[in-house]
Amino acid sequence: MVANRRNFIFRVSIVINIAVLLYAAMHLSSTNGPGVEWVPVTVDGSERSAEMRYLNREDFRNITESKPVESSVRNIEESTSQKTPSTAATTNKTTSSTTSITELEKKLHDTSSEADVTNETLDIVDENALSESTLARLRFLLGCNDRDFRPEYIQRGEYWVLKNYVRADHGTMLCHESITYTTHAGFEFLDNVQPLVERWMAPVSVAVHAPADDLNPTVNSIRYLRNCLGNDLIKQFVTFHVFFSNKHIPGKIPEPDKFLAVPYNCSVPPPFKTKTGDTYMQKKNLLYPINVARNVARDSALTHFVLPSDIELYPSPFLVPRFLNMIARNAKPLNSTKPRVFPISIFEVDAKVNVPSTKTELQKMLTNKTAIPFHKFVCPDCHNIPERQQWINAKETNQMDVFHVGKRRGKFVHWEPIFIGTHQDPHYDDRLSWQGKKDKMTQGYILCVKDYDFMILNNAFLIHKPGIKHYVKNPKRDHIVANQNKYIMSVIMPELKKLFGTRSGCSL
Ligand SMILES: *[C@@H]1O[C@H](CO)[C@@H](O)[C@H](O)[C@H]1NC(C)=O
Ligand SMILES: *[C@@H]1O[C@H](CO)[C@@H](O)[C@H](O)[C@H]1NC(C)=O
Ligand SMILES: *[C@@H]1O[C@H](CO)[C@@H](O)[C@H](O)[C@H]1NC(C)=O
Ligand SMILES: *[C@@H]1O[C@H](CO)[C@@H](O)[C@H](O)[C@H]1NC(C)=O
Ligand SMILES: *[C@@H]1O[C@H](CO)[C@@H](O)[C@H](O)[C@H]1NC(C)=O
Ligand SMILES: *[C@@H]1O[C@H](CO)[C@@H](O)[C@H](O)[C@H]1NC(C)=O
Repeated sequence: MVANRRNFIFRVSIVINIAVLLYAAMHLSSTNGPGVEWVPVTVDGSERSAEMRYLNREDFRNITESKPVESSVRNIEESTSQKTPSTAATTNKTTSSTTSITELEKKLHDTSSEADVTNETLDIVDENALSESTLARLRFLLGCNDRDFRPEYIQRGEYWVLKNYVRADHGTMLCHESITYTTHAGFEFLDNVQPLVERWMAPVSVAVHAPADDLNPTVNSIRYLRNCLGNDLIKQFVTFHVFFSNKHIPGKIPEPDKFLAVPYNCSVPPPFKTKTGDTYMQKKNLLYPINVARNVARDSALTHFVLPSDIELYPSPFLVPRFLNMIARNAKPLNSTKPRVFPISIFEVDAKVNVPSTKTELQKMLTNKTAIPFHKFVCPDCHNIPERQQWINAKETNQMDVFHVGKRRGKFVHWEPIFIGTHQDPHYDDRLSWQGKKDKMTQGYILCVKDYDFMILNNAFLIHKPGIKHYVKNPKRDHIVANQNKYIMSVIMPELKKLFGTRSGCSL
């Protein structure tokens, strides 16, 4: 019965796909559907004022909004099947895809010859927007693969991951056309999602650690964020994944298509506002598996470029289009083939001030000490950053560029930058916890051994949620730190040396 039904659906979907292909083939060269693009209109530093405008554009998407035929078959099957815990309700654009990748490539070569794409200088009129020619150039330069956007239950060591549990409504996202901010949290940190997305204005992938009783408040926090903020940015851009250890599986897993259909009562405060200090995780003294969270969020991102970051770090506005325009220009030193990542400078600001929107504003705040370099009072030495003072002194320019190419060696051997990278970069070690510290060092070591270039960006910056941190001693945590240190030195380092080798000047 089930098999029959599946078979039937399969055949129907093939017929549909053939019809769509024929239709697309007829229309490709002549007509084109209007595409939709977001552009930020005003971001004036008061974090709540960002807006979104939709505009029709003569669209690169009209030839590229495509997935392999096989994948749209699976999509149709999935949204029809009752069994899959599908969140098809959160986006219904997935089945509208048309041509195959091969056709797309052919089309790309027909319309724009390779020479156009590689050596014609790009005329970028607006650094804060992506033009057709910039997108075409990116598609060519990155040669990336578009990825599926479907809900899945997967296992990662002892953890169950509900990937794409609540999906953003942005629909098909091609790998070259944006950057995904990938991050993680317990539900009590989800208040940061709003200021974050209002400045980022592009896809965000959040992995939420939700063991047992923490899942319900997580779900209600997500409902609040999607329903009660007066704009649709979170619905539009943010995808939530949840994960938990197999020792702490929630009693019941709410089904996204059901709970998203019920509007949240917005006069009830969201769980992230009311619960502090009594989450399930805290009551049970669970370790926070920070690297599982980081890897889940990154692996789920649909775009070639990702910015793996901490949820309390808010990016400077227009970072995405400015960065992609820089990549498309492909000027020196970007036109090398060496592996690289793009670190972003980080600052803290006083609790009472607005988060700065431009480098010029940030510089004024550094002068009057309402802003300081990140972790200045927590661990001044562990944030030795190449050319930091020069960066701070350098005037804001009108386009994004590489400010300085550094290495994680010598004076900067313990540098733990936050950077824009890609899916090709080494992962974080799943076995390390947040409480144990040094959780990013093993990745840093691999980057060093592989001789990565650290291309520091000139005008871009991250600002920590307002409030300057001071060092607080925590004896209980010190014990966990000592254990994790021992584990890194005696177990992980020997592994890394076997897998990646060594290079002089590289250390944890
Ligand atoms: C996209 O659509 C516009 C009209 O909507 C058309 O002028 C343009 O040539 C199309 N682009 C491609 C690459 O087909
Ligand atoms: C998407 O779904 C909504 C609600 O189910 C519906 O109103 C809308 O027309 C659909 N859009 C498309 C493009 O199918
Ligand atoms: C662009 O590349 C083509 C072939 O790849 C070459 O013939 C042409 O001279 C190049 N143009 C410029 C301006 O470099
Ligand atoms: C929403 O919550 C408020 C405050 O708890 C309550 O007074 C109100 O009746 C609720 N509204 C609905 C429609 O349930
Ligand atoms: C990068 O571009 C510069 C000039 O813009 C050129 O001199 C250099 O040869 C290029 N390098 C590579 C590897 O293409
Ligand atoms: C510091 O500079 C910023 C930016 O110019 C300004 O908004 C803020 O009021 C100044 N604060 C003090 C205490 O001077």
